[in-house]
Amino acid sequence: MKLKILVGTMTSTADYVAQAIQMDCADIVSDIEVTLMDGLDIGVFDAAPDQDALYLICTSTYGSGDVPDNARALYESMDAQPKYLGHVRYGVIALGDRTYLQTYCFGGQKFDERLQGLGAQRVGEVWCHDASSGTLAEVEATAWARDWLTQALASATA
Ligand SMILES: Cc1cc2nc3c(=O)[nH]c(=O)nc-3n(C[C@H](O)[C@H](O)[C@H](O)COP(=O)(O)O)c2cc1C
Repeated sequence: MKLKILVGTMTSTADYVAQAIQMDCADIVSDIEVTLMDGLDIGVFDAAPDQDALYLICTSTYGSGDVPDNARALYESMDAQPKYLGHVRYGVIALGDRTYLQTYCFGGQKFDERLQGLGAQRVGEVWCHDASSGTLAEVEATAWARDWLTQALASATA
């Protein structure tokens, strides 16, 4: 199985999270690719069937509950050029801050809603990290990702 982590970020926290997962989870999945969302569109989900790809959306939230600037083209292409993504299995890491009460982790939630709408299959729940909690996103996310990958592998072979 190949894990593709797609990173939406303004100030690199989501990128650090993705890189930590790439290093920490290599014993579970050897092929982990980290890609910034810049310049991507819905075609990123066209993995060859033999690649058995699993996707991890790893994105923060900006503005008033918006996806980061580098994620906008990919997010909007899922609306402008929709296609059925029933073959796509994915998870979501949503970075946010609870002080933004009305829009907490909306960036990741928005990707989740759009992927669900196109028929993609989420593995597990959307995982949120609160920047105001004082915990390190990289540390918490890698612990979550290890469990999530184990679940994804088990459901792939079930
Ligand atoms: C200007 C600004 C706007 C933000 N807006 C939101 C928001 O609406 N909802 C939320 O949950 N977090 C919001 N955040 C918090 C970020 O999503 C959070 O700090 C995240 O960890 C940043 O990750 P990044 O460095 O990968 O961009 C905002 C942060 C800033 C600086």
